Amino acid sequence: MSTALFIFLVAISTLAIVLIWIFWSFALGAGWEPTSRRVVNKMLEMAEVNSDDVVYDLGSGDGRIVIEAAKRYNSRAVGIEADPIRVLWSLIMIRISRLQNNVKIKWGNIFNENINEATVVTLFLWKNINQKLKPKLLNELKPGTRVVSYIWTFEGWEPSKTDNYENIYLYIIGESDR
Ligand SMILES: C[S@@+](CC[C@H](N)C(=O)[O-])C[C@H]1O[C@@H](n2cnc3c(N)ncnc32)[C@H](O)[C@@H]1O
Repeated sequence: MSTALFIFLVAISTLAIVLIWIFWSFALGAGWEPTSRRVVNKMLEMAEVNSDDVVYDLGSGDGRIVIEAAKRYNSRAVGIEADPIRVLWSLIMIRISRLQNNVKIKWGNIFNENINEATVVTLFLWKNINQKLKPKLLNELKPGTRVVSYIWTFEGWEPSKTDNYENIYLYIIGESDR
C-alpha cells in the first residue's frame, strides 16, 4: 500500500469516527449543548433539591447538573449519558471534585435505564424526546417526584412552576398528568 493511500484511509476513518460521534447523540435524542451554570442553579432551586434527594439527569453531558447537585446540596446524583467521550469527561470532573461517593454516571440510553429511585429528574433534551419519555416517567417515578425540564415542555402536562424568562418547567409526578 502506498503512503498516500495509507494517509487517505487514516483520514477517512478518523472523519467517519468524528461524524458518528457527533451524530450519535442527535440520532438518540438530542445533541450536546451545555446548560449555563446560572440555569443549572435555577433548575435545582426550582426543584428545591436537598440532601435527601436522588437527582437523575437524563442525558447528563459533561455532568454539570449532577456535580452541582452533589456539591451544593449534598444530594446523591446519577447521570445517564450515551456519548462515551462526555461520560469519560464527566467521570474525570467527578474525580477532580472528589464526588465519587455521591455522583455516578451510567453510560447508556436513557430509555433503557431504570430511574425509579430518582426523587428529582432534570432534562434538557428535545421536544419529541420529552414526549416519548412521558410513559417511562409515569411508569417508573414515584408520585411526588419533581421533573425539571429546560427549554422544552411536556405537551399535555401542566407545570407546577414555570420560569418564563429562563424557560424552565417544573412538573410533579402525580399532579402534572392530571
Ligand atoms: C442538550 S445536552 C444537555 C447536557 C446536560 N444535561 C446539560 O444540561 O448540560 C443533551 C445530552 O443528552 C444526551 N443524550 C441525548 N439522547 C440521549 C439518550 N437517548 N440517552 C442518553 N443520552 C442522551 C446527549 O449526548 C447530550 O449530551
